[in-house]
Amino acid sequence: MASRCLCCQRSLKAEGLYHPRCLSRLFGGPRPPTIPFKAADLPAMVTKDKNRMSISGVQPKVFVRLNKENGTLEAVATGGTHILKPEPEQFPQIPQNENLCMNMAEELGLRVAPHGLFKMADGKLCYIIRRFDRTEDGQRIAKETMFQVLGSTDKYSGSLEKVGKAIRSHAANVGLDTVDFFERVLFCFLTGNGDMHLKNWALLGAGREIALAPCYDLVCSRLYIKNEADTALTLNAKQNKLKRTDFEAFADHLEIDSKAAAHILDRFRSAQEKLSQMIISSELRSGPCQELLKILSSRYRRLYG
Ligand SMILES: Nc1ncnc2c1ncn2[C@@H]1O[C@H](COP(=O)(O)OP(=O)(O)OP(=O)(O)O)[C@@H](O)[C@H]1O
Ligand SMILES: [Mg+2]
Repeated sequence: MASRCLCCQRSLKAEGLYHPRCLSRLFGGPRPPTIPFKAADLPAMVTKDKNRMSISGVQPKVFVRLNKENGTLEAVATGGTHILKPEPEQFPQIPQNENLCMNMAEELGLRVAPHGLFKMADGKLCYIIRRFDRTEDGQRIAKETMFQVLGSTDKYSGSLEKVGKAIRSHAANVGLDTVDFFERVLFCFLTGNGDMHLKNWALLGAGREIALAPCYDLVCSRLYIKNEADTALTLNAKQNKLKRTDFEAFADHLEIDSKAAAHILDRFRSAQEKLSQMIISSELRSGPCQELLKILSSRYRRLYG
């Protein structure tokens, strides 16, 4: 079997682990960086949310920067250009899960920042994404998560309609970002992601340039939390038992034309086979891979019958 790129998962024609183009998009050059540390070397940044079983906050992460002289990644407090997320003990294969979900999102036309899987010093894969809140030359781009925008005190409390309303009142291109938002909510349902709390949605930019930030933190959380609600933030006043009519009501609330919403639902429907193939050819081990296929098909059944 042809080996696949650890960034985009598409097959490789030449020897190696990556398409040079994927590496260039991510790091500005065609060579994979060396990571001279392992997960256990990272400073303890793990805090447990006592009130809720969730993935949030238990996943350590660090800002990193490529040292162009020696090709290694350095963990830095300031000036980081990328975010590195290793595999936490509690949630095996989250890096593989996240990379796959981001690739599936990209397949469906959602905006995602360059990302990929890389070997750490102990050979374990970590997930790396390029920061979208920094320009090429390191300048800061203003970013506010919906937790900040809505002045919230609990990232798990709120509705997707409220997030939609905030997008509609701030975004420069309301139509585009509203449709983007709707598609992402649909995507998260189909991929068993019930952990899209207020800090997993953000706006970027300032003044008249404000836009929904690219997708981030897309994971199938259902793989780890079997009794997790369909959605962290309510949709049509529900967290569970979501049906197609709830998504239609949600689109209506976002003032998305019903024909446009039906078109999006159809487009996502026809992607099922492709997404299944991507799960099969991902870096997930056979157990979680089979489990994720089941989650996907059950979500498709619930939405499309
Ligand atoms: N590519 C990126 N560029 C800039 N900021 C990012 C990027 N990815 C994530 N962030 C920011 O970093 C925060 C944490 O990232 P992420 O959500 O991926 O990690 P997490 O461990 O799941 O965090 P949390 O527990 O907050 O959900 C996000 O809330 C977001 O604001
Ligand atoms: Mg997050």
